[in-house]
Amino acid sequence: MKKTKEQIIKDLKLIDIIIEIVDARAPKSTQNPDVQEYSKNKPKIVVLNKSDLADENITSAWIKYYSTQSIPCIKVEATTGKGLSEVINQIKILYKEISSKYIEKGRTGRTAKVMVLGIPNVGKSTFINSLAKRNIAKVGNMPGVTKGKQWIKIDDNIELMDTPGMLWPKLGNTVVANNLAYLNSIGQNAVDNEEIAYELLKLLVKNYKEHVEKRYNIDISSIEKNVEINNKENDYNEYDVILEIRDEIARKKGAILSGGRINEQKVSDMILSDFRAGKFGRISIERPY
Ligand code: G4P
Repeated sequence: MKKTKEQIIKDLKLIDIIIEIVDARAPKSTQNPDVQEYSKNKPKIVVLNKSDLADENITSAWIKYYSTQSIPCIKVEATTGKGLSEVINQIKILYKEISSKYIEKGRTGRTAKVMVLGIPNVGKSTFINSLAKRNIAKVGNMPGVTKGKQWIKIDDNIELMDTPGMLWPKLGNTVVANNLAYLNSIGQNAVDNEEIAYELLKLLVKNYKEHVEKRYNIDISSIEKNVEINNKENDYNEYDVILEIRDEIARKKGAILSGGRINEQKVSDMILSDFRAGKFGRISIERPY
């Protein structure tokens, strides 16, 4: 079960350290600005999940960006568990700081409580499950400490709440809303797949042209030239070029209706699902600079 905002705020009273999971391909767009408000200066670790799908150089740039803000940030691949031990080490570092404050106040033996937060589809459940599997013998119910809550024991001093806090994404501006749609973090019914696939294709052609050419075995420069030749008398623009690239992908992949018309819905769905499944290779859609 996922938690609502009210439940998160209530649960956060028990929490010492927050792990905010974001998508490494678009860390800012998949971050929820309310976390700051909820966390009330609690230490936070940003986890760049799905780092296997993101452009490595850009992920490194994001890690630098967070370090300039003194926010611990770790790249992770929750599906394989890559990066999890670094997260655990970071939790331990933060725990040391917290426990020394408790000791100053004369309280010893206090375990640090950790909670995972994030918007839909960033990999919160996968992350928690991977951690739980590593610590399978240590998952348990500890009534009396916090009634009815399940905690995953990370070590003798640290426990992770076993259900994540699900935050709603902040759509912000069009760029953020589009990024969230590409990553499938907003409901299917909330977006027009044809429009979103067009915007995604435009972005991919701009930044990852070779990835698109390789995926669909197309030559984008010659498509651009053809559009230019066919429209000599008329004005043409980027919109026409992207649509022609999309249509060429449809022809290559057999997304054609009877009568030879392009099946726009089918090719759009295919571009989106290929991107979401990482079939273009490593791609980041947001940069820190
Ligand atoms: P959530 O709790 O934050 O909503 O996300 P969840 O763990 O359910 O993960 C969403 C999808 O992302 C899952 O795919 C999951 O396997 C995938 N995923 C999570 N972490 C990683 C990662 O590090 N790398 C990659 N490549 N994928 C990751 P799914 O079960 O196929 O769901 P869906 O894509 O069909 O929605």
